[in-house]
Amino acid sequence: MKSNASKRVADFERHVADPTARQRDHEQVVNEYYELVNETCQSFWGTTHHFSVYTGEESLAEAAENTERLLVDRGGFGPGMRLLDIGCGVGGPAFTVARHSGAHVTGLDMVPSRVETARTGAAERELTPMTSFEVGDALKLHYPQNHFDGAYSIEALCHVPDKRQAHREAARVLRPGAPWVGYDWILRDTASAADIERFAEPICRLHGLSHLSTLGQVREDLEASGFTIEELCEASELGDLEQNWIQLDQFTNAGPQEQLPARLKLLVRGAEALVAGARAHVFGIAFWLARTSR
Ligand SMILES: C[S@@+](CC[C@H](N)C(=O)[O-])C[C@H]1O[C@@H](n2cnc3c(N)ncnc32)[C@H](O)[C@@H]1O
Repeated sequence: MKSNASKRVADFERHVADPTARQRDHEQVVNEYYELVNETCQSFWGTTHHFSVYTGEESLAEAAENTERLLVDRGGFGPGMRLLDIGCGVGGPAFTVARHSGAHVTGLDMVPSRVETARTGAAERELTPMTSFEVGDALKLHYPQNHFDGAYSIEALCHVPDKRQAHREAARVLRPGAPWVGYDWILRDTASAADIERFAEPICRLHGLSHLSTLGQVREDLEASGFTIEELCEASELGDLEQNWIQLDQFTNAGPQEQLPARLKLLVRGAEALVAGARAHVFGIAFWLARTSR
């Protein structure tokens, strides 16, 4: 008989095999996925779950922190500002952003257990006065208009089916002229239909993503949502991404897959799909800095 975890992974994989179900059931899929991988992700990657822009031989943790600081610097986030982190996960980036900028960060995530972990992490780091963490949906932000002085999102909008609606919501809660900084998974512009089928679809399926946008689609979504774009590029233009794939290679080569527990096997297969997509120039990461033009 299958263990409980194996059954839940099998149920998840059945659910996400249909791309329309990933769109339709976005909230459920995100919750299912992160409830399955949350603990394992934290044991391998701590409180920060995103790829990094490397500049040299720095460690994974240093690269993650430098990438978060880069977003702070590009956004001009500083003391006294009220910032929103959309899809904050278990809080690692918000901790760095609050410390490095001196701003107050509200982290918002759809998965209650991740928000709870972020709250505990903030208390352990004595960051409670500078951060708060709330359950919520990027597509229906529960904040009034003009509430924040800046916002950012790291590798979260890739999950969202209606990405334009997420940008519109960010625009609504930002005061006029406020920075919106993003760092997110994309489909590279040169990907063919065959590439999408072979490389992008497994990435989306194994990570519970709705779909990946191209850089061109990100541009259209930002502009249609009332933003003026100051920078929009592939993160590979800001530094070295290859180090991420090397790190994932080490993770996937940890042992024979048949012997891995079901949740770890799901992560390993997801990591293999990302590395294959990146090396085939199908999968990439976008960086943007935009401002509300209201
Ligand atoms: C890859 S993780 C990145 C987390 C964090 N930004 C980091 O870099 O460590 C993506 C996060 O987006 C969250 N997420 C996905 N869809 C969301 C939505 N519609 N609203 C809020 N959070 C969402 C997930 O729950 C998950 O915590």
